[in-house]
Amino acid sequence: MIYFVTSNKHKYEEISKILQHEIEMLHIPYPEIQANSLEEVVEYGINYLKNRINGPFFIEDSGLFIQALKGFPGVFSSYVFKCIGNKGILKLMEGVIDRKAQFMSVIGFYNGGMYLFRGISEGKIAEEERGDRGFGYDPIFIPNGSQKTFGEMEIEEKNKFSHRGKAAIKLKQFLENLL
Ligand code: IMP
Repeated sequence: MIYFVTSNKHKYEEISKILQHEIEMLHIPYPEIQANSLEEVVEYGINYLKNRINGPFFIEDSGLFIQALKGFPGVFSSYVFKCIGNKGILKLMEGVIDRKAQFMSVIGFYNGGMYLFRGISEGKIAEEERGDRGFGYDPIFIPNGSQKTFGEMEIEEKNKFSHRGKAAIKLKQFLENLL
């Protein structure tokens, strides 16, 4: 059994569709530092948790990077979502033609050694909120290859396109090679 340390049940549900019976959600708060990259946030979190958890575990950190806003909200995604939400982002994007954006996810796994897995989903910011599934920026992000926002997708479909789905598949392949 591998622990997924998170307080976000959506993230847990998404990753557990890929890692099925192998994971268990563990809620232990850990510091999420304000750093320049998701990798730094994850490494800090793992170093904080590694002596507090018995057995293998992983954490995940993610962010939305909007090209026309020079990568904002990026590593501040969680804070910005709490402050201005999807309406605030759509306001910032009013009249902006270039709507390219990417979601990035970094999973950090620890079993005595630390391993990082990154997943990227390229796409664009929708003109309006659509769909009520998922969480966070899901209703305003349309991945390339689809007309739907993440907010309009079931978890299985979102996983095929999403940053987190891609990072989780890398973790799954890594775990299969460990056995
Ligand atoms: P963190 O990974 O918990 O630091 O949070 C990153 C923030 O980015 C979350 O609070 C969400 O607002 C947003 N976010 C990350 N992944 C997703 C996703 O798959 N869909 C929608 N929003 C996301």
